[in-house]
Amino acid sequence: MKEKKLDQIISKYGADPSEIMGILLDIQEQEKYLSKSALYYLAEKIDLPLTRIYKMATFYEVLNLKPTGRNQIHVCTGTACYVRGADAILNKLEQKLSIKSGEVTPDLNYGLKTVNCLGACALGPVVLVNGECFGNMSALKIETMLKAVQSSEKK
Ligand code: FES
Repeated sequence: MKEKKLDQIISKYGADPSEIMGILLDIQEQEKYLSKSALYYLAEKIDLPLTRIYKMATFYEVLNLKPTGRNQIHVCTGTACYVRGADAILNKLEQKLSIKSGEVTPDLNYGLKTVNCLGACALGPVVLVNGECFGNMSALKIETMLKAVQSSEKK
C-alpha cells in the first residue's frame, strides 16, 4: 500500500494509538491483509511498539497477516451444517478453486476458510461469500454461486 493512502487512513483516526483497531481494519479493507511494510510504517507513524501491533494482528481472527483473496468464501462446518453435507461443499470448493481451506488462489481472487457457526443454522448448510449468506447449499449449487460472485465483480 502506498504511504499516501496509509497517511490518509492514519490521519482519519488522528494518529491516535487508541484507534489502532479501526486503523488496522481500514488498512486491511484496502490491502485485503496487513502487510509487514504497512505495519512497520504504522508503528512509526503512531508511535506504538511494533510488537503490540503484531500482538493485535495475531490475536483477532478478523485481522489477517497474509493475503486473503479479493473474494472471501467461508464454509460453515458447524454441527448443523456438517450433518447436512458441509464437507461435500468444502470438498467441491477446494476442487473448483484448486486450493485447500485456509489458502488463497494464486491470482488472489479467492480465499477459502471454514468457520464453526455463522448463526444461521436453520439455513444450513451455509456458505458466506463476501459477507453474503448462501443458505441450503449443496455441492451442485457451487458452480452457480461462483458465477454469481464473478458477475457481481463485473458490476
Ligand atoms: S452450524 Fe452452520 S450456521 Fe450454525
